[in-house]
Amino acid sequence: MAVKAYDLTGRAAFVTGAASGIGRACAVLLAEAGATVHGADRDTRGLHETAALIETHGGVAHSHRVDVTDRPALRRAVEACGELHILAAVAGIMHSGTVLETTDEDLDRVLGVNFKGVLYACQEAARLMIACGTRGSIVTMASGAVDTGGPGLLCYSAAKAAVVQLTKTLAAETGRHGIRVNAVAPGWIRTPMTDRHDPEARSRTETAMARLSPLGRVGTPEDVAHAVLYLASDASAFTTGQILRPNGGVAMPW
Ligand code: NAI
Repeated sequence: MAVKAYDLTGRAAFVTGAASGIGRACAVLLAEAGATVHGADRDTRGLHETAALIETHGGVAHSHRVDVTDRPALRRAVEACGELHILAAVAGIMHSGTVLETTDEDLDRVLGVNFKGVLYACQEAARLMIACGTRGSIVTMASGAVDTGGPGLLCYSAAKAAVVQLTKTLAAETGRHGIRVNAVAPGWIRTPMTDRHDPEARSRTETAMARLSPLGRVGTPEDVAHAVLYLASDASAFTTGQILRPNGGVAMPW
């Protein structure tokens, strides 16, 4: 590793959502930086594909089939790491529906995965990091939707806003243990999640997003993974409670 601060050799990373898109790119990049990667997802086949990608490049991967809304299962998977230095809580689902259409089921499902799933992973990871004294780094996955809002995004952006508050609160509470907690809030990233949109609507949104970006393009999973690597590594040793926005400059909040 050319820059030592990014070297994760000897560290264990737990990555939720590792079977696809951004989570897979994070798992692969953290392994490339030297970490032993524990991928967790409910998609067994995708998890094995990610593990195979890591192993092809000489990395070490373990797979845990877990639904992040199942706290006891998540606890067992995190504890199976033995020692933990990095959590990337990436697993999430998209949801769209107007405020007037929103049902209790929508709220429970989206907040369940996108907020409670992140909360459970953070709690289990932080407990293990404190017990092992590893002074770890926790990275949560928020979204540019927190900055921009938008029609149809109530459940999704409310859950992501809650993730931001969780990130800041946990950073304030665990700093004394040497644990850092930061969020990544990506803009539009081409992944299987965005590929599931109706193709015409997706193409319209991508064109609009690329036009809004000073860089003139939408993002890739690797764009986000590099932000996660920075936050996971010692390169960000004095950074906690912050939101990093790999969004191509589409939004530029303070
Ligand atoms: P994706 O759909 O490609 O990957 C999501 C992964 O999470 C999948 O492997 C899926 O199986 C897993 N997952 C979903 N629910 C789960 C559950 N209950 N338990 C365990 N695993 C579960 O989506 P993508 O785009 O890679 O998204 C990853 C994260 O990034 C999500 O939190 C998403 O909200 C966030 N994000 C994505 C953006 C984008 O434009 N793609 C923009 C901003 C944030």
